[in-house]
Amino acid sequence: MSDLETIHRKVKTCALCPLSQTRTHAVPGAGNPNSEIVFVGEGPGKNEDLQGLPFVGAAGKYLEQLLESINLTRDDVFITNIVKCRPPNNRDPLPDEVSTCAPYLTRQLEIMQPKLIVTLGRHAMNFFLSNLRISTAHGQPKRYRGQVYLPLYHPAAGLYRAATRADIDADFLKIPLILNKIKVEQDKTPEPENKDEQLKLI
Ligand code: URA
Repeated sequence: MSDLETIHRKVKTCALCPLSQTRTHAVPGAGNPNSEIVFVGEGPGKNEDLQGLPFVGAAGKYLEQLLESINLTRDDVFITNIVKCRPPNNRDPLPDEVSTCAPYLTRQLEIMQPKLIVTLGRHAMNFFLSNLRISTAHGQPKRYRGQVYLPLYHPAAGLYRAATRADIDADFLKIPLILNKIKVEQDKTPEPENKDEQLKLI
């Protein structure tokens, strides 16, 4: 069994926080574990809880369309969440729930070592980049401690607001460019200084 599968098994039987008592299924994440891109949402909703898979409801359908817009499918990338169990009534996860669940995500990312982490929504963004505001940070790649992040609005927000949807659509199209830029930089400097910076797009 791979290290990632071991983590996913642990997630599925996890009872470390009260969310385990109200969940139907824990949702460790799904997709290609060798992907260069990992998408991180906030936490499972109703459909995800029922199926044990991330982003399978309306927001997930939209995410699939967004992936199509850059010639990818959900099987090409890895999709997961900050918390792996559904908060009741879709409330925000509590700080204790986030900190209890965090080691699972940290370990997943250590194993997968993606070139780019795309955060979906402000909660996922603030998990990694605590001082940013989504209204100004969305679509702006940011390197922090050697890892590149792209904060995006949550796809669910795009379902309700046309202006937000237009932002998400435009931000998403930057992903291939950003990935390419990361690779070009890595080829030039195999051991970069890992400065925290805004990654300039070409
Ligand atoms: N919203 C999220 O943040 N994650 C999911 O998996 C589904 C909806």
